[in-house]
Amino acid sequence: MDIKLEPKKLADVESDALVIVGFEGTPPEGASADQIKELYDSGEFSGKALEIAILHRPAALKAKRLVLGGGGKPEKFNAAELRKLTGAVVRALKSKGVHSITLALDEPLRSDDFVASAVEGAILADIENDRYKTDPKKNEKWIESFSVLVDQKAGSQAAVDRGRILAEAQNFTRDLANQPANVLTPTVLAQRAREMASEFGLECEILDQDRMRQLGMGALLGVAQGSAEPPALIVIRYTPASAPTSKDHLGLVGKGVTFDTGGISIKPSDGMEKMRYDMAGGAAVLGAMRAIAQIKPAIPVTALVPTIENMPGSKAQRPGDIVTSLSGKTVEVLNTDAEGRLILIDALTYAQRLGCTHLVDAATLTGAIVVALGSVNIGAFTNNEAFLQKFLTAAKTEGEKTWQLPMDDEYKELLKSNFADLQNIGGRAGGSITAAWFIRDFVDETPWIHLDIAGAAWLDDAKPYMAKGATGVGLRTFVRLAETW
Ligand code: BES
Ligand code: MN
Ligand code: ZN
Repeated sequence: MDIKLEPKKLADVESDALVIVGFEGTPPEGASADQIKELYDSGEFSGKALEIAILHRPAALKAKRLVLGGGGKPEKFNAAELRKLTGAVVRALKSKGVHSITLALDEPLRSDDFVASAVEGAILADIENDRYKTDPKKNEKWIESFSVLVDQKAGSQAAVDRGRILAEAQNFTRDLANQPANVLTPTVLAQRAREMASEFGLECEILDQDRMRQLGMGALLGVAQGSAEPPALIVIRYTPASAPTSKDHLGLVGKGVTFDTGGISIKPSDGMEKMRYDMAGGAAVLGAMRAIAQIKPAIPVTALVPTIENMPGSKAQRPGDIVTSLSGKTVEVLNTDAEGRLILIDALTYAQRLGCTHLVDAATLTGAIVVALGSVNIGAFTNNEAFLQKFLTAAKTEGEKTWQLPMDDEYKELLKSNFADLQNIGGRAGGSITAAWFIRDFVDETPWIHLDIAGAAWLDDAKPYMAKGATGVGLRTFVRLAETW
C-alpha cells in the first residue's frame, strides 16, 4: 500500500473513494451536502462510531465515491478513534474492491496527531493473517494507495512517517505472534530478532543455553528443559546518539513462550492451539525496539526476551522441583504451567545487571486477567505509582486501554513456600495479582511495571478495523513512554 500526502482541493481528488468523517448530530457541510443530508435524514447514516455509508458519483466531485465514516460523538473523538475509523473504512472498502482511498480531514482534525493515527490505522487494517491460505483468489482485493488530503495549513510528512513506522512495527509484532509454534520456535524468534536489529542498526546479543547455565539462570532453564527446542535470551540495545541527560535506562522485558502446553501440569486440549501467542509480550517488545530505532528517543532502551517452549516429556520439570534463580533466590515449582513468571524473573534480574533503572515487563501471564478484563484492557501492576502514572498517560495518548490492579501486601502471603524461598503459584483467587507479586519479589525497589496482556494481545474475532489474531498491544505505549521520557 502506497501512503502519501495529497496536496489538493477536495473537488480535484480523483481516487476511487474520498472519505470524510461524519459525526452524530449534524451532517458535515461542503461537498455533496444535499446528498449527505439525505443520508442523515433517512436514517441510513447517523454518524455512529465506525458506521460507513457510500455515495456513488457524488455531486461536484471527481472522486468515484464519497464515503462517510462515522466519528461518533464529536466531543469523544480523538486520534485513537480516528485510527480505528480509518482502519474500518480501509477494511470495508478493500472488501468491495476499491483500490485508492483519499481521506479528507476537516479542522480541527488536521493536526499531525490525527494524520499519524490515520496512516497507522490504514496500515494496521491492511493485514489479513492469511499467510497460510493457499487460495489464489485471496490477493484479488487490495488497496493500492491511501492518501491524506492536506492543504498548506497542516499535515506533515513527519506525521505520515511516524504513522508508518508505528504501524509497520505493530504488524511485525502481530506477524510474530500469529505464527504457529512449529514455525516460530525460540531459535527462530531469536533469529528474527537478530535480523530486525541489524536492519535497524540496533545492538543484539543472544544468550544461549550454555551462557545461561554459566550465569545461573536456573528458573528459566528449568522451564526450558522439557523441550527439544533450545531456549534463548534475546537482548537488544538502543543507545541514543547524543549523550543522555540523565542516568535513566529503560528496560523492556517480554515473555517469549513460543508454545505453552503447561508442561507436566498440562493444559486441557480445548483451545490449547492459542498458546502460540504466549510470546506476544516478547513480540511487542521487539516491535517497540524496531520503532524506537527509527524514532530515536533520548533515553537508552534495552529489550530482553527470554524465549522457550513449555513442553512435557521425560526431561521436563516436575511439580515440586526447586530451582535456583539468577538472583540466588529459590523457587518451588508447584505448577509447571506458571512458567511465564519463572522465565521473566531471570530476565528481570539480568536487566538490572545490565543497568536498567526502570523496568516494564509485558506478558501473556494469566488466564485470570482474561476473566477480569477480557480483551479490552491490559492489566497493570506496579511497585511505583509515579512511574505507572507516566505509563498510563502514554497509554491513554495511544489509545491502549490499561487498568491498574491492586498489589496489597496480603496477596504476597499466598506465595510462601514450605521448602523454598517462594512458590510459583498462589492459588486460583487473585491469580493475576499473585503472579505480579511473584515477579515483584525479584525487582526489589527498582521502579517496575508489569503488564498482563493475556486478554488484550489476541482477538478471537475480527474487529471492523483489525483482522482476528494478534493485536500487537503494548508496543505503541512503550514507544510513547520512551519518547516522552
Ligand atoms: N500462558 C498462560 C496464560 C494465558 C492464558 C495466556 C490464557 C493467554 C490466554 C500462562 O502461562 C498460564 O498457564 N497461567 C496459568 C497460571 C496458573 C497455573 C497459576 C493460568 O492462568 O491458568
Ligand atoms: Mn502456562
Ligand atoms: Zn504461558
